[in-house]
Amino acid sequence: MAKSHPARSADALFEPATAGALQLTNRIVMAPLTRNRAGPDLVPSDLAAEYYSQRATAGLIIAEATQISAQAQGYADTPGVYSDAQVAGWRAVTDAVHAKGGKIVLQVWHTGRVSHTLFQKDGQAPVGPSGIRAATKTFVAGQGFVDVSEPRALRLDEIPGIVDDFRHAARRAIEAGFDGVELHGAHGYLLDAFLRDGTNDRTDAYGGSIANRARLILEAAKAVADEIGADRVGVRLSPVSPAGDSKDSDPQALFNHVADGLNPLGLAYLHVVEGATGGARDNEPFDYAALRDRFNGVWMVNNGYDRAMALAAIASGRADLVSFGRAFIANPDLVRRLREDAPLNELLGRDTLYGGGAHGYTDYPTLDAIAAVA
Ligand SMILES: Cc1cc2nc3c(=O)[nH]c(=O)nc-3n(C[C@H](O)[C@H](O)[C@H](O)COP(=O)(O)O)c2cc1C
Repeated sequence: MAKSHPARSADALFEPATAGALQLTNRIVMAPLTRNRAGPDLVPSDLAAEYYSQRATAGLIIAEATQISAQAQGYADTPGVYSDAQVAGWRAVTDAVHAKGGKIVLQVWHTGRVSHTLFQKDGQAPVGPSGIRAATKTFVAGQGFVDVSEPRALRLDEIPGIVDDFRHAARRAIEAGFDGVELHGAHGYLLDAFLRDGTNDRTDAYGGSIANRARLILEAAKAVADEIGADRVGVRLSPVSPAGDSKDSDPQALFNHVADGLNPLGLAYLHVVEGATGGARDNEPFDYAALRDRFNGVWMVNNGYDRAMALAAIASGRADLVSFGRAFIANPDLVRRLREDAPLNELLGRDTLYGGGAHGYTDYPTLDAIAAVA
């Protein structure tokens, strides 16, 4: 039977909350959002500090997916967190958010097989659990969206290096002033691709049984938790999302095992994308309450939430935190708009989402800015 979670007041969405070591001013989280605006050497854009600090009234910002190493890159102009210049770039972002009283963690990312030879050293193949090409696209400068390349399977002796890259990235994120990190375990990227029997056909200790397929994400989570403190680490999962050509024959058993394995670490939170990311919430049956029952920590939900859904999820106790993606792109003052039940700005088209400059990034108006010109 599902554990019961205590009901809260109707407007608890706007009340403070704690997630591990993170003290949040409300339960509204900015979801991680890739914007492909990094500058030379994959240093965060000069505009990133303004963009994120405009959104600092979120209880927590999860900064965009960020490469843990050069090999981890899969898209044009996505930032890294492994070089000194990247760390310095991120420092400007975290300082700006903290100056406005916000909290910000970094989503750390290895794209795995969702990459292209163009992003890899000497044009090598991207790496994945197996040599199975993803039926998905990536974004390449000058070419737009193109098919990802055929990956090569990571050798067993390379896997400790991947875990170490996650550990190192977490350390560097703390050096850059982040309040913590979120492991990107979703959307068909490296950690997720290892999890699933549709993308992992290894026959060593990292393939085959659920326990073997879950080994990498659990090792990475433990390494990062040991490095910076588990109470500053979250993990994102997308159990039934087809994003990144993810597929598995038994996601419920798989993710139940992952939750069981993460539980003893004492993480800050688990962040679960319900349904198909950015699409149907009921694309495949999945018992999220059963998954939550296995995890004794803060439960963050995402995907297609509007005000009413978020208020209900928090008030009923079904979730502890709700993250918003697209609404936060278009509404820097989303928290105020949700509190006041004010109308939301509409999201501009795809050409301003992935790449570009200030337009569609830092120029969405707040309610105050709209009132000033009215
Ligand atoms: C432009 C864009 C970029 C995204 N980048 C990321 C990312 O870097 N990491 C991630 O885990 N999810 C990413 N997502 C998924 C969002 O975090 C979120 O799960 C999705 O938008 C559904 O939430 P929403 O309905 O509140 O928008 C992205 C979505 C969009 C629209």
